[in-house]
Amino acid sequence: MQYKMVINGKRPLSGSVRAQGAKNAALPVLAASILLKGETLEIRRVPKLHDVFTMADLLRHLGAEVKYQNNTVKISVPDELAWDTPKALVRKMRASSLVLGPLLARTGRAVLPLPGGCAIGSRPIDLHLKGLAKLGADIQLEHGAVQARAKGLKGAKIYLDFPSVGATENIMMAAVFAKGETIIENAAREPEIVNLSEALKAMGCKIDGVGTGTIHLEGVDSLGGTAIDIIPDRIEASTFLLAGAITRGIVTVTGVIPEHLDAIIAKLEEAGIGLEIGEDTVTVKAEEPLKSVSLKTLPYPGFPTDVQPQFTAFMSTTKGTSVIQESVFESRFSHVSELKKMGAQIELQGNTAVVTGTDQLKGAEVRATDLRAGASLVLAGLAAEDETVVYGLGHIWRGYEGFDEKIRNLGGKVQVQLSDENGEPKW
Ligand code: EPZ
Repeated sequence: MQYKMVINGKRPLSGSVRAQGAKNAALPVLAASILLKGETLEIRRVPKLHDVFTMADLLRHLGAEVKYQNNTVKISVPDELAWDTPKALVRKMRASSLVLGPLLARTGRAVLPLPGGCAIGSRPIDLHLKGLAKLGADIQLEHGAVQARAKGLKGAKIYLDFPSVGATENIMMAAVFAKGETIIENAAREPEIVNLSEALKAMGCKIDGVGTGTIHLEGVDSLGGTAIDIIPDRIEASTFLLAGAITRGIVTVTGVIPEHLDAIIAKLEEAGIGLEIGEDTVTVKAEEPLKSVSLKTLPYPGFPTDVQPQFTAFMSTTKGTSVIQESVFESRFSHVSELKKMGAQIELQGNTAVVTGTDQLKGAEVRATDLRAGASLVLAGLAAEDETVVYGLGHIWRGYEGFDEKIRNLGGKVQVQLSDENGEPKW
C-alpha cells in the first residue's frame, strides 16, 4: 500500500507538541531484553513506529512474548531462545543487527542476514563484528549472513575506529556475561547509548563511563527483569523545532531534555531564531531577518546527521549561503534532488551541500527515499507556496509517530491519502 502526504504550505506553525520516546533508544533497549532468561522487561514511552514493530516481530521470532499497552511494551523472555533471524525482517531494518550481540551473549550463537536499512550509504557492520571477535566470538560470513558462535566470551579492550552507535551498543550487550572486564575506547556518546546503559544497569549490569568516550563493563552471570523509561526523541523534537523555523512560526516542543538539543539550539540561534529553553521544553520564535549558517555533522555531541536533511531544507529559505558538510554517512543527500524540484538552490560537491537561500519554495511532487529525507521534504512543503505531495510515507512512518496529526495540531494543512505509483488517489 502506497501513501502520500498532501501539504498546503506557507502557513506559520504555532502551538506545542510533545516529543515521542526516542526510536534510537527504544530499539537497542528492546534488543537488550534478549539477555534475560525467564524474566520480563517493561519499557515505557516506546514510540509506535514501524521500526519498533519490526524489532518486536524479531523478538517474537526468537521466542519472546511482546505485548503493547499504549506506549508501554512488556517483553517476557523464555528460558530457551532461537538464534537465527529471518531475512525478511532483518532486511527491513539495519537496527536488526542490534540483536547480534545480546543473542551471542545469551545463547552462544547468532545467525544474521547482512542487514538492509535506508538508502544512506553502504553502512557495513565491520566494527560490530571486529568487536565481537575481540570478545572471543567466531565470526563467519556465509551465504550473505553473519554466522557467530561463542563458547563463552571473555572481556577485552576494544578500540572503535569510528564512534559507531550500533557497534558501541552491540559490543556493550555482547560483553554483559563475558568473563572479566571489557573496555570500549572511542565509544559513541549518544544519549540513546546512555539510556541503554541505564536499562542494562537496572537489569544488573556493571557499566561505567557511558556517555564519555570510554566505557568500562564488568561481566556478570545473569540479569533480572526491570522497568525502564525511554528518553525523549531528540531527532523528532529537532524536526518540529525546524518546522517552526522554516514556516516562520512559534513552536514549543515539550517533554524533552534540552541539553540533548544543544547543537541544534546553537545553530538556530546563529541563524537568528529566538529561543526559550524551559525545564523540559524548547520554544522557537522565527522572526525575520534570518540568516544562513554553515555546519558539519559529527558524532554526539556534535550536530546530528539525523537532523542534517531537515536543516538543509530550512537553509533553503534563509538569506545567504550555507555550507553543510555530512561527515558521518558517505551519502546522505537524497533529499537534495527533491528539494531542488521545489526551487531550492543547492549544489552538491562530494559530501558537502552549498545551499543558497531563496525567497520562496514552490510546491511540487516529491518522493521520500529515507526517513529523515522524508521529514525534510515535509518541512519544505510546509514552507512552500501552493501544494506539495510527498510520496513514500512508509519511510517517514519508520520514525515519526502520528506525524501528520502532530503537524495538524500545530496548524499545518496536511492530509495523508492512499496513492498509486502514478499518484492518482485510489478509492
Ligand atoms: C545509528 O545508526 C542511528 N540508528 C542512525 O539513525 C544514525 O544516523 C546513526 O546512528 C548515526 O548517529 C539507530 O540508532 C537505530 P553508526 P548506526 O554505526 O548505528 C559507519 C535514523 O534516522 N560504520 O554510528 O547504523 C556507517 O557506515 C537513523 O534514525 C561502519 O563503517 O550508525 C556510517 O557511515 C539513520 N562500520 C557511520 O559509521 C560499522 O561497523 C555511522 O554509523 C558501523 C558503522
